[in-house]
Amino acid sequence: MFEKNQTELRKDICEIGRRVWQRGYVAYNDGNISIRLSKDHVLATPTGVSKGFLSPDMLVVVDMEGRQIDGHLKVSSEVLMHLAMYRERCDIAAVVHAHPVYCTGFAVAGEGLDRPTLPEFVVALGDVPLAPYAPPSTPLLGESVKPFIKDHDVFLLANHGALSIGSDVYQAYHRMETLEQSAQISFIARMLGRENVIAPSEMSHLQNMRQSMGLTYPRDCLTFAPGSKSPVNRGEDVNEATIEAMVRKVAERLIQEMGRS
Ligand code: 13P
Repeated sequence: MFEKNQTELRKDICEIGRRVWQRGYVAYNDGNISIRLSKDHVLATPTGVSKGFLSPDMLVVVDMEGRQIDGHLKVSSEVLMHLAMYRERCDIAAVVHAHPVYCTGFAVAGEGLDRPTLPEFVVALGDVPLAPYAPPSTPLLGESVKPFIKDHDVFLLANHGALSIGSDVYQAYHRMETLEQSAQISFIARMLGRENVIAPSEMSHLQNMRQSMGLTYPRDCLTFAPGSKSPVNRGEDVNEATIEAMVRKVAERLIQEMGRS
């Protein structure tokens, strides 16, 4: 079980803001990040500031209708999109939105990332839908992603950027990293003139791996510790160590499979 207090969760958002900015997933004031604190409250980044230089006191708390209840800065203009994600998925406690260039290139070209290129991408992400364009800072943004939320953990937003969700903010961020790497690899393969995909006969094996790792839907809802505002995951702990262990497990199984064939 993991349980973090709000002070730690504020630091986590600042750390993820620094990572998305340092990796070039956002420019200037782009992107927004949030964490579900309780069933009624969400901690989110403020609007119009660089996510690379956040400090814990800059973050804002809103209720599930987006009404600001704490913080001296104004909340992200896209917080309603985050709230739509939390409403649809009781198993998640974090949302990361960024504009990584390869993902956003696909989103501008009007293409999702639905071709099975690497086993790791199929297992970790599944296929990646493209939500139709919606005007920024409006409830329509959340509405445009809504049809895809229940069955995906990462999304491209047409003419806008990318979105990832997770049971904690590190998992949501790592999904963003994997998504951007998948977009980069697809782009390069296409530039080379061939994007060979994994054979359909291999897909059920990868789907089984996804299932055995608890990555299919629906998932168990998160619960909240009594008297605490921190999310508590009822299932396996999901943190950096767990993600590393998952990736190692996928790699080991692939090596075993390759040895057998
Ligand atoms: P906010 O600064 O209001 O969160 O908006 C940033 C952004 O990425 C718009 O797409």
